[in-house]
Amino acid sequence: MNNYKIAVIGGDGIGPEVVAEGLKVLNAAASKYNFTLETTDFDFGGERYLKTGEVLSDEEVEQLRQFDAIYLGGIGHPDVKPGILEKGILLKLRFDLDQYINLRPVRLYENVTTPLKGKTPQDIDYVVIRENTGGLYTGIGEFQKKGTPDEVAIQSMVYSRKQVERCVRFAFDLIKKRHAASPWKGLSPEEKEKGFVGKLTLCGKTNVLTYAYDLWDRTFNEVAADYPEILTDYCHVDAICIYMIESPQRFDGIVTGNMFGDIITDLAAVTQGGMGVAPSGNINPSGVSMFEPVHGTAPSFTGKNVINPIAAILTAQMMLNHLGEKEATENIETATRKVIKKMKSMLVGEMGYTTTEIGDMITEQLKS
Ligand code: IPM
Ligand code: MN
Repeated sequence: MNNYKIAVIGGDGIGPEVVAEGLKVLNAAASKYNFTLETTDFDFGGERYLKTGEVLSDEEVEQLRQFDAIYLGGIGHPDVKPGILEKGILLKLRFDLDQYINLRPVRLYENVTTPLKGKTPQDIDYVVIRENTGGLYTGIGEFQKKGTPDEVAIQSMVYSRKQVERCVRFAFDLIKKRHAASPWKGLSPEEKEKGFVGKLTLCGKTNVLTYAYDLWDRTFNEVAADYPEILTDYCHVDAICIYMIESPQRFDGIVTGNMFGDIITDLAAVTQGGMGVAPSGNINPSGVSMFEPVHGTAPSFTGKNVINPIAAILTAQMMLNHLGEKEATENIETATRKVIKKMKSMLVGEMGYTTTEIGDMITEQLKS
């Protein structure tokens, strides 16, 4: 019987509440599908920082390396200056554990309201592969003449060829796996005829960022040669914002750098019904990966049992998938779909059920 060691970081605000629901579902899956979960809680976050001044030490990161995966609720506290916890905990973990992929599936489930008029679940079903350890997020930059009228601030978008290539390769491999059983529905008959099975779109800004995205563009096209069965496309980041709204059905996978990936996945989350349903995984394919919902800590809803746990539950499901529990993964997905159909809305306060009720319903569904 497989036993998985999971580090649990509930974090701040509603983080611990949604993580509790995810764990409820995971534990039900464990007893049904014959694996065990050994969870260890870590109190990293704003509360601890305010009490002790500790953010996250190198020793603590080392401790986390001993786990099979990390399950995180949310980090951020209204009483802590922006940047301290984000950089000190979340980004430090992504960087130190070399979680170089931020995987964000975008899927509109049945019965979920999208603000995109006329769009159905068939139209919104793609995955964003966001590079997660480079770009503007490296923190490289400086102030010059700080505090004077002549002040200059520089923040560099830094990418190495290796960084870009491993990300792009991951993306192509993922699209290939995604359609191992049957080709992507968005392909035209001619494209299927030619042997294409899926499509990957590079999102960049080659008309202005002529260093960083030139590197991305060249790497993307070179790597594409190893994947003749994947159709490729390119969109500037501004244009992609139009297409994600007007014609999301044109996307199967989007690969992009860290900053653009951050921005477009919030937009994508809205199209799939809001932050309450958007899961994500910070992946190191050969190390420890960390799974966290895209949403933040929603401090004003803390402790009210009103927040939507679906994103955290789908995040837990992604974690199980990553660990290799395919059957359990599929069944959590089915159970979640069924419960989503019963919910009145994905929005806080309009769900028709409390946070814990939704976790219970999915658990019951899973057991049946
Ligand atoms: C996200 C968040 C983080 C990011 C913040 C909290 C540092 O917005 O996971 O998308 O920018 O990556
Ligand atoms: Mn973000």
